[in-house]
Amino acid sequence: MCGIFAYCSYLCEKDRRHICEVLCNGLARLEYRGYDSAGIGIDGDSPDSPTILFKQVGKVASLRKLISQHASDADQSSNEAAASDAKEATNVGIVDMGKTFITQTSMAHTRWATHGQPSPLNCHPHTSDKTNEFSLVHNGIITNYKEIKLVLEKRGYTFHTDTDTEAVAVLCKYIYDSQPNKRLNFTDLIKAVIKELEGSFAFVFKSQHFPDEIVAARRGSPLLVGVKTDRKLKVDFVDVELPTADTTEKLSNDTENGGLLTVPGGNAEPKLRRSQSRAFLSEDGLPQPIEFFVASDASAVIEHTKRVLYLEDDDIAHISEGELHIHRLRKDDGLSSVRAIETLEIELAEIMKGQFDHFMQKEIYEQPESVVNTMRGRINFDSRTVTLGGLKAYLPVIRRCRRLLFVACGTSYHSCIAVRPVFEELTEIPVAVELASDFLDRKTPVFRDDVAIFVSQSGETADTILAMRYCLERGALCLGVVNTVGSTLSRESHAGIHINAGPEIGVASTKAYTSQYVALVMMALQLSDDSISKEERRQQIIDGLHEIPAQIKGVLMMDKALQQLAKETLAKEKSLLIMGRGYQFATCLEGALKIKEVSYMHSEGILAGELKHGPLALIDEHLPVIFIMTQDSLYPKVQSALAQVTARKGQPIIICNDDDTTISEQYRTIRVPLTVDCLQGLINVLPLQLLSYHLAIMNGVDVDFPRNLAKSVTVE
Ligand code: G6P
Repeated sequence: MCGIFAYCSYLCEKDRRHICEVLCNGLARLEYRGYDSAGIGIDGDSPDSPTILFKQVGKVASLRKLISQHASDADQSSNEAAASDAKEATNVGIVDMGKTFITQTSMAHTRWATHGQPSPLNCHPHTSDKTNEFSLVHNGIITNYKEIKLVLEKRGYTFHTDTDTEAVAVLCKYIYDSQPNKRLNFTDLIKAVIKELEGSFAFVFKSQHFPDEIVAARRGSPLLVGVKTDRKLKVDFVDVELPTADTTEKLSNDTENGGLLTVPGGNAEPKLRRSQSRAFLSEDGLPQPIEFFVASDASAVIEHTKRVLYLEDDDIAHISEGELHIHRLRKDDGLSSVRAIETLEIELAEIMKGQFDHFMQKEIYEQPESVVNTMRGRINFDSRTVTLGGLKAYLPVIRRCRRLLFVACGTSYHSCIAVRPVFEELTEIPVAVELASDFLDRKTPVFRDDVAIFVSQSGETADTILAMRYCLERGALCLGVVNTVGSTLSRESHAGIHINAGPEIGVASTKAYTSQYVALVMMALQLSDDSISKEERRQQIIDGLHEIPAQIKGVLMMDKALQQLAKETLAKEKSLLIMGRGYQFATCLEGALKIKEVSYMHSEGILAGELKHGPLALIDEHLPVIFIMTQDSLYPKVQSALAQVTARKGQPIIICNDDDTTISEQYRTIRVPLTVDCLQGLINVLPLQLLSYHLAIMNGVDVDFPRNLAKSVTVE
């Protein structure tokens, strides 16, 4: 989804060029979250001059170009080009890039359009009015924006964009303008704004009325604050400042005023905010230089600092005078009274492409190591035992449950399908696998003795989070299987497993799939370790897991041959079917998803058992079909599906095991090593990942940024 990045420096001299560079670099790291347009908002030349905005359609590179065209030291010809640029792209003419700031606040955003087409006008930061009194960047969706707009329009305010976000910017101005004596501080003003909003959001606000301050707030969309300082912080947490009384009430019930909005805190004394944030106190009491980075994702701050604090829903963070203060929207909501400043364990190299051309390619090649990292410290291959620390205390409850409910979206859903058979076999508990959106649409019955397992790479997918909250309300034990440490899902679930695959940047998920698969197999193994009758099978699977990293490495060495196959056989095709059954059904679904996501070729994963119930009608000599026919108990059944396809002149490409001699030489084959049946999907998915990557390159797709998609979908 969209990406937010904000930069505040205090008592550190920075010139405008450096500030723009920091913002654009931050956005470039977040670009995988959304990339149809990007914008920044930086300080004007004096505290009361309007925030300078640059907005551009396309990727961050286009935004950088726009900024350089407006730089005072740019050559004349490019300045002229700038002048003819889209008018809405910026509110300034030429900007002095050499101007320095001792203290400044700035913000940036990369967008994945939900309301209104990608255009400079609809791009963030959005502003309250022509003079940019309030500007803000937003992730998520405000569901009651139409009502807010209507009321504000009645009061003479005008709107210029198609977005939900603009309503919030204008609301800031309305509340500010309407208060007697203008006494609200920035935090209380934003609290009043947030109380009017419905939906999910993460925001950063900036205002000419509050120079050198920013306020950030979240509900349902991630936001974190990175802290960079030369000295050690006094303590590694920030106290949460609870309101002593609600100075601002939710005002939407005020029917007289059109159902919304009377002015908050009109008579309230502004509260003195002097409960010093202990973390930022200096030994000598003198102010110290410090930089803050607010971002929707840790990958944007890692090059500056590893010290981060994750905001909780309804936290309001206020950065001013070198201090970070965390306030709550309402008091007494049972959350912790401190927010820890944690040290990130990601290395910069992990979010760089290194020797690879694309993140997707790098992540495919990381799989021999990422699956090891998933198993590290959890499987003892000598004693053939599995220990998942996070689940230990819950094992008896899980073993007694009436149903295991897997809920996920996209690739994560496929990893659940992939492990369903092994869960059923090892635990003998009924298993249901649900797409999160459909699960919610159906208001699926959930009971206290259900165990619900939510699988998500990002831990921020809106549908999956909402499904988890739905299950939490109904008293089910909720477990998370998540890659991103500190994500909403990992924090709100009762317990779970971090898959430890390392940051995944490519929009098409690859290494997260194999790591989710391994993590879930480990979970099934641990759940069944009280069953003597399953011991032999468990040991077979653990031995199989031991071999997997080397086998993955072996398959990756076929890359050149797969590239050739993509070029010769598939590149010109319009459509591709992928068929298999049993354990391989998930591989078919995941392979087809990869191909359509990044190469834009139509592709469908088909359960071979369903062939004669419809898909057979598609078969002729023109439609390519990949068969997944590795050796397991269903091999004869897949063989018969293959015969049905070849009888209709279909030209299959067969993924089979290295030593399979039964396949006619007239068919193309992709040969992979044999492993235990329930792990074979880990191996079989690799050629499909590589094929999709090569098809994308051949079709000229920017594989890390496929059109219309986003890495983490934080809206319903
Ligand atoms: C998006 C991504 C997919 C991903 C899905 C679920 O659609 O483009 O690659 O599989 O979300 O994401 P999650 O983070 O919950 O695994």
